[in-house]
Amino acid sequence: MCGIIGYLGNKNTATVLTEGLKRLEYRGYDSAGIAVFHDDCIQIRRTEGKLAILEQMISKESFNGHTGIGHTRWATHGKPSDRNAHPHKAGGVAVVHNGIIENYLHLKKTLQNKGHVFNSETDTEVISHLINDLIEEGCSFEDAVRRALQQLSGSYALGIMFEGEKKKLIGARNESPLVVGLGDGELFIASDTPAVLNYTREFIFLDDGQIVVLSDGKAAVKDLTGKTLRIEPRYVDWSPLMAEKGGYKHFMLKEIFEQPEAMINTIRGRVSREKGAISFEDFSLRKKQIEALRRVAIVACGTSFHAAMVGRYMIERLAGIPVDIDIASEFRYRNPLIDKGTLMVVISQSGETADTRAALREGKRKGALSLAICNVVESSIARESDHVIYTHAGPEIGVASTKAFITQLVALYLLALYLAKGKGSIESGTVRNLLAELIRIPGLAKDLLRNASEYQTLARKYASARNFLYLGRGINYPIALEGALKLKEISYIHAEGYPAGEMKHGPIALIDREMPVVVLVANDDVREKVMGNIEEVRARDGIVIALASGNDPEIRQKADELIPIPDTAPLLSPILFTIPLQLLAYYVADFKGNDVDQPRNLAKSVTVE
Ligand code: G6P
Repeated sequence: MCGIIGYLGNKNTATVLTEGLKRLEYRGYDSAGIAVFHDDCIQIRRTEGKLAILEQMISKESFNGHTGIGHTRWATHGKPSDRNAHPHKAGGVAVVHNGIIENYLHLKKTLQNKGHVFNSETDTEVISHLINDLIEEGCSFEDAVRRALQQLSGSYALGIMFEGEKKKLIGARNESPLVVGLGDGELFIASDTPAVLNYTREFIFLDDGQIVVLSDGKAAVKDLTGKTLRIEPRYVDWSPLMAEKGGYKHFMLKEIFEQPEAMINTIRGRVSREKGAISFEDFSLRKKQIEALRRVAIVACGTSFHAAMVGRYMIERLAGIPVDIDIASEFRYRNPLIDKGTLMVVISQSGETADTRAALREGKRKGALSLAICNVVESSIARESDHVIYTHAGPEIGVASTKAFITQLVALYLLALYLAKGKGSIESGTVRNLLAELIRIPGLAKDLLRNASEYQTLARKYASARNFLYLGRGINYPIALEGALKLKEISYIHAEGYPAGEMKHGPIALIDREMPVVVLVANDDVREKVMGNIEEVRARDGIVIALASGNDPEIRQKADELIPIPDTAPLLSPILFTIPLQLLAYYVADFKGNDVDQPRNLAKSVTVE
């Protein structure tokens, strides 16, 4: 993980770097640092802890140079500490790095034998030593970088500067994201576009094995042999405001409230309710191709995997195509049975998750047709897949995923309907009705959000519980998992999600009068069974917090707490059940005073295996 930024221009370099790092903190936040020129020398300031500590550290300093690099860290090699914080400098070379250098121990040994002295436990430090070593042997800065990169194995996005060339900055990418921002008389590199959206919306998206040399107001993209490549810049239509908090206490809260709008953006331009038609900008299959699909394999990590679980229900139910689901880190090593008759769907908010990306490559290698459901436009996964459906949720900054998840569910519903229609497994009238129901969902989500203060009261009441159990069944079982995950991630309360029917095979032993049990009761064919689970919890004095479709007096009477959920089609119910669970987790965490947007040990985008 980690976020990196680089700047070459006339503004206050330290300010541009720290402002950009603020927008990259979602990628890691255990230490931060910058390197900037001052009076012809590279000055490094770095510290363990959040960016605010670094800002405090440099608040009384001023640097007069106009080239700099910055880093916000999520530790992989070497615990968070001042000396493991980036940038790392050897001789005149300073480096920031996102990724993992797999052969660093071997390189380190070789360099140590040549007399290099290392100051950190990181893998990154070998890069600065290696480049410096090559420069000392007579290479130019650019040649030294290229030759050093040829010796590295692993993943990297790099920002590199050299004391001997004050007005040059080099960026490089292999398996970790790096974008190049083209501003008005100024240039940037960054892990992600929001870092520099304040200054430009024109970007070059680097590919693996490419480097970019920023100098003389130009960004020259080259491959590792030094050959210049022509890459067209792209315009990114996310506004800087979209990446700000907009009056909300936390990004997560803002993003929860943005969900109705985000869903509208996922649907916009893709459906015609009257015709019962669904189309995507970058994905279409002929009837014959759909009929030839033997199965769909959906692969993802974290919250996106919960979307995959819901997607399985949707596709199997509507299109009647068998669906396998896999956690990406498992998929890549289990020699999955994938072939040409498989549509492989990878789901990723960031489009950069290393395991998901590796799984996609594995699926493609085995001949599957690949489709990515991604939020970040031009991300690695989006570009490597044969097709992509963008969720258009806008930038998601809070580490705990909310609007990205909801829009993934919408995209999967559209995909399921698209496949079903193409295959002829449902009638046009049904497609029209199911689309009409989808179009109602953003409005119903808005209604739920109006009750936020009630969820806040509920959260306060139960914030001191030490464990929570979440039960759901059928298509809402993944939502029980997601509710539990949200609570764990940001409130640090132990929570387990369980298929309601499995409760009697274990978790029931945990239930006592201290244990809140969140039960999801949708209006579907397992409603009565879930009602039975409520009885079982009550019989053991557990606290029942029920989320139930419709306003059912029976549940009102049986549950300790009731959150009514608007009625909708069962396949769409997961969207509505998710919203109060997100808010419950948010308010518990906020009440406990936790850092909601940057929970401990987590990072938003996991670009390492
Ligand atoms: C991290 C994030 C999660 C996210 C998961 C997958 O663990 O903290 O919120 O669900 O990665 O990320 P992706 O970008 O692939 O959806």
